[in-house]
Amino acid sequence: MVKKAPAGRWGAVFSREKRSASQVQLKHLSLRNYRNYENLSLPFYTGLNVIHGPNAQGKTNLLEAIYLVCGMRPFSGAKNSELVRFGCEASLVKGEILSGNGLNEVHITIKKEGRHTRLNSKTVRSISQHFGRFKVVLFLPSDIEIVKGGLQARRNYLDSVVSAIHPAHIKQLRDYQRAVSQRNHMLGLKEKVSSLSVELWDEQIARIGAEIVGRRIEMIKSFNRKLTEVYGEHGESDTSAHVSYGFSFERRADIAEAIREALCKNFPSDRKRGHTTVGPHRDRVGFLLNGQDASRFASQGQSKNLVLALKASEIRLFKEHTGTNPILLLDDITSELDIKRRSFLFRTLSEFTGQVFVTSTDKNEIPRRGEFHSFLVDSGRVKTGA
Ligand SMILES: Nc1ncnc2c1ncn2[C@@H]1O[C@H](COP(=O)(O)OP(=O)(O)OP(=O)(O)O)[C@@H](O)[C@H]1O
Ligand SMILES: [Mg+2]
Repeated sequence: MVKKAPAGRWGAVFSREKRSASQVQLKHLSLRNYRNYENLSLPFYTGLNVIHGPNAQGKTNLLEAIYLVCGMRPFSGAKNSELVRFGCEASLVKGEILSGNGLNEVHITIKKEGRHTRLNSKTVRSISQHFGRFKVVLFLPSDIEIVKGGLQARRNYLDSVVSAIHPAHIKQLRDYQRAVSQRNHMLGLKEKVSSLSVELWDEQIARIGAEIVGRRIEMIKSFNRKLTEVYGEHGESDTSAHVSYGFSFERRADIAEAIREALCKNFPSDRKRGHTTVGPHRDRVGFLLNGQDASRFASQGQSKNLVLALKASEIRLFKEHTGTNPILLLDDITSELDIKRRSFLFRTLSEFTGQVFVTSTDKNEIPRRGEFHSFLVDSGRVKTGA
């Protein structure tokens, strides 16, 4: 039976639960010499797992390890050398993850020179092939960059949502980027190149680029439907939120043809600049709040709220396409949200039937509803139930 979400609150936001949806669940985590953890072996539970404690004790580090073991890659920007405990040679991160196919074991060894990942004892050669396998939706304070930061952050976010649902997108992004780099290399050569010498790359950019754009636009349509739902249920039906897509080339029904033509037309100026100025790597993903560009006009709280709404929409989209509830990780979510938005958010958490990990300096700020498990973090040690 489909549980009907109560109207007019954040509560419904992440939910709209189909109780039958399968789930990803982290059952156990072990760490050795990871960040400020020397040795840790910890079971986790369904429902809400609250990781709490004073500043600088290792709450975010623990969340990062959970993300790493499920996504098989660290938070963006974290280097291997930073993950290994100061003064140590290597880290070990091990997780037992329950998913549709049963219990899986992920085993990651981290050294300065690289990571070695095994899934059920088999070496994982291509992490991207497993993208979205144990889907995690992550919310970090820095995610506000999705709204406030540069165009690259917005394109990357949209592409990551598309990729979790359509894994082929990852390879296409890589092939596309390679074609653009090759074209840029030709454009940067000292000797004058003709448009003929980049024809091969133009063709690839147009063909793969059209597929990338097509998927992005499809995803934005779904996103916009979900965002309207989320803001409505959120009690904020007076706010309209939209994702927009701006083409770096003149749009036509045949997108590949439109890219081809734009590359040809821009060839002289691209040659002068030494790089490719049209194509999906230059398209603009934007967020509009009540029709205004959120990157310029949204307040901190509005931006944070928008990111939460995007993540809520992302969960729904993922569930709709795959039938699976992702794991939700939230680091330090409450700062900058006013009382109304906080209470919407907490209701949301208690109604989301997937596994949730949330960090806080004060566990009492997270209402105890439903299944609730607390973990006190103190200088790289964790006390369960405290
Ligand atoms: N590679 C490492 N080796 C040892 N310690 C590290 C390593 N990387 C980070 N740390 C330490 O881990 C500590 C805890 O960091 P973390 O960000 O997890 O704290 P936190 O509990 O989330 O704090 P806050 O409440 O301020 O967000 C920091 O003091 C940091 O110096
Ligand atoms: Mg932290």
